[in-house]
Order: sequence, then C-alpha cells, then structure tokens
Amino acid sequence: MKTEILRMLRETDGYVSGQQISERFGVSRTAVWKVIRQLQEEGYQVEAVRNRGYHMAGSPDVMTKEELDSVIRTKWAGREVCYYDMTDSTNLRIRQAADEGAPHGTLAVADCQTAGRGRRGRSWESPAGSSIYMSILLRPEIAPTRASMLTLVMACSVAEGISRSLEEQLDPSGGAEIPRIQIKWPNDIIINGKKLAGILTEMSAQIDYINYVTIGVGINVNQTGFPEEIRSTAVSLRMECGQALRRAPIIAAIMERLEENYAVFLKTEDLTGLMEQYSSMLVNRGRDVQVIGEKETYRAHALGITPTGELVVRREDGTEEEINAGEVSVRGVYGYV
Ligand code: BTN
Repeated sequence: MKTEILRMLRETDGYVSGQQISERFGVSRTAVWKVIRQLQEEGYQVEAVRNRGYHMAGSPDVMTKEELDSVIRTKWAGREVCYYDMTDSTNLRIRQAADEGAPHGTLAVADCQTAGRGRRGRSWESPAGSSIYMSILLRPEIAPTRASMLTLVMACSVAEGISRSLEEQLDPSGGAEIPRIQIKWPNDIIINGKKLAGILTEMSAQIDYINYVTIGVGINVNQTGFPEEIRSTAVSLRMECGQALRRAPIIAAIMERLEENYAVFLKTEDLTGLMEQYSSMLVNRGRDVQVIGEKETYRAHALGITPTGELVVRREDGTEEEINAGEVSVRGVYGYV
C-alpha cells in the first residue's frame, strides 16, 4: 500500500484526500495517516492540509523497496526488486536468487556493500548513503559466446538512463548544464574523462547453454570526494553537476533503457541495432590508446567497435586489429581515457 500511496501522491499535481486513499485501498483513514507519517519520517515532504488532503512537496534521496517499486515502470527489468540496506555484494545476492529460481529481470539494490567486487578481481568501495549498487538477473536464450555483448548493452543503458534522469532532475532554468555521459570501451561510464560507473558481468553456463547472467552496476552519485588512490580517475554525479541527486529515479531510467536495448539486442543477438547509439557515446573513438595485453602493450588509434563488441584499432604500422575485452584493457595515452 505504501508503494501505491507514493505513486498516487507523485501522480497528482494537487492534493489527494485521505478519503480517496482509504476508499482505494479499503482501509481506515487512521491507517492512511500512519503510512503518511512513515513517509514523512523517511524524509518525504508530504504536506497534510485539513479538508484538502495530502500533497507531495518534495522527494529526498530515499532508498527503500517501496520507493524503488513506486518509480520503476517497466515490464520485466527491475519489476521484482530485492532491496538491502546492507549486503555483501548485490552480484552475490542475484546469484543466490537465480539459483533459487528468481525470474529474469530480478534486481538487487543495496545502500551499502561490505564485499563489493570490481572487475579483474579488484574490490569496489561501497559506503552507505551515496551510491548505486545494483545487479540484475538475466536469463537470455543465446549462446554463451554472445553473453559478453550484454555488458555493452548494459553500458549503453546505464549511460542513456543517467542522461535521461539528469535531464529530469537538473533544472536548466537554474543554470544547470547537463554533462555529457560517455563510455570507455567496453563498459566504464565516464564524465569529463573520469570514471563515474563500472559494470561487472558474471555468468553461470554450461558449454552451450546459459543458466543465467548477472550484471552488476556501481554508480557514484552523491559522493563529495574520493580517497587519494582513486581521486585522479573517479568522480560522482554530484561533483560534476553541483547538486545532490535522487538515486531511485536513476535506477528506474536505467531499467527502462535496458528493457528497450535488450529487445533490440535479441533481434540479431548482437550489437547491430545498438551500434549507432553506443558509438556516439564511445569516448575512445578517434583517440590514441594504449592496448595492454598479457604478452605486449602497444600504442594504437581507436576507430570504433564491431557488431560483436570488439574495439577496432589501427596500430602504428597501419595494420588494423579487432581487440577483445576479455584479453586486453585499454587506457588513454596520457591518462585514464
Ligand atoms: C568495475 O570494476 O568497474 C566494476 C564495478 C562493479 C561494481 C558493482 S556494485 C554492484 C555490483 N556488486 C558488486 O559486488 N559489484 C557490482
């Protein structure tokens, strides 16, 4: 009922009367008042005016299951939300949920992680109150060899979802500029040359069959600074936009974009239909990069991606190569991008 009341308050410009709410849910007005009090305690600015009812004057950055359920409007992506104030890692929660039979699209979200994991065995700092830590469960009926492309589908969805949510949350009439969100191949999300978000994709599969895929996303939203070791490469939305943002609508916008992009991906089971949008956000395109492999590191010029997600680079001797994200990493010649 709390989720529904939140929706009613958001969808109504003026006031919703206690009577309307109690009739809609078949509960007493005292029960309605109790929910309103809870919402106020959680930080929502719900105004209560005698003879008029309730009005949502403002929403702070609340992260609860009800808040997420009330803003996510998709068919399958994030329709089932498991929310944790604190957990080890949302990727681990999704793996467990998947093993227990959770449906495609189940989303785990945490306010804080005690064992957040990054790519290449690194850890992912996950303090409370400022970031998005979420993982989604996918059960794609595609060959396991195609699964790595899902990371790029998610990168596209994260970049687009963040951009859309910024357009809604930042007020351009107040002088706020919407910063450009880009992708560093294959899947780091970038603002002004610094890392804003990372994606960790894991798969449970047999040789020719995917049991499930877990895609974890960590987004720096409201941090005001970073530890010395990552200060030169990490940034948050708040640091770039100059104001705190609500995390739940960002998650909802990403789920919407994912649902659409995933359908496009499934049509061809590759990135053909997403090439244009991915390429338009690709920060490496047309830049000189360092390609760091196990055997060699070399300098090359990045040209773009292939429909299966490899980065096309031109070596200094003029030969072109398609490089695979599983085998190499790429850095800018003069820094992170
Ligand atoms: C990277 O190294 O760039 C990937 C970081 C991925 C972090 C996210 S936070 C939510 C999910 N749970 C984890 O333990 N990791 C991912």
